[in-house]
Amino acid sequence: MVPIVFLLNGPNLNLLGKREPQVYGHETLEDVRALAEERAAAHRLTLDFRQSNHEGVLVDWIHEAREKAAAIIINPGAYTHTSIAILDALLASELPVVELHLSNVFRREPFRHHSYVSLAARGLICGFGARGYALAVDAASGLIGQPKA
Ligand code: DQA
Repeated sequence: MVPIVFLLNGPNLNLLGKREPQVYGHETLEDVRALAEERAAAHRLTLDFRQSNHEGVLVDWIHEAREKAAAIIINPGAYTHTSIAILDALLASELPVVELHLSNVFRREPFRHHSYVSLAARGLICGFGARGYALAVDAASGLIGQPKA
């Protein structure tokens, strides 16, 4: 069976490419999806790529991942810095979690330096823009021990 990796995107990431391009780059969500899909295919993984602006929807998707996925990659957007509900769902999933950010949150405002999600993450990729999505799939593949094609 081909392992499934959930790649979940939080609020405002639907605006990628239009939103503060000096911070987040010019690539759209579809562009980063394509980068991630390409890496997933190289690792023989199925990627389930989603975006929601709603915290509860993200929690529901993490519960779904608990049943279906081998790993979770998550860019929780601003919920990174606020959401104990997302942290608890990730801990409950008992899955390897890769935390992902386009920007280097540590070079930005102090309120972005704290992440609840990091408490559930095996590792963190941030600051590499769209390329981070490909790197995150590489990391997830390593965590689930998937041989490369
Ligand atoms: C982000 C960083 C967060 O601080 C911010 O709220 C986002 C995007 C990133 O990908 O760099 O919405 O997660």
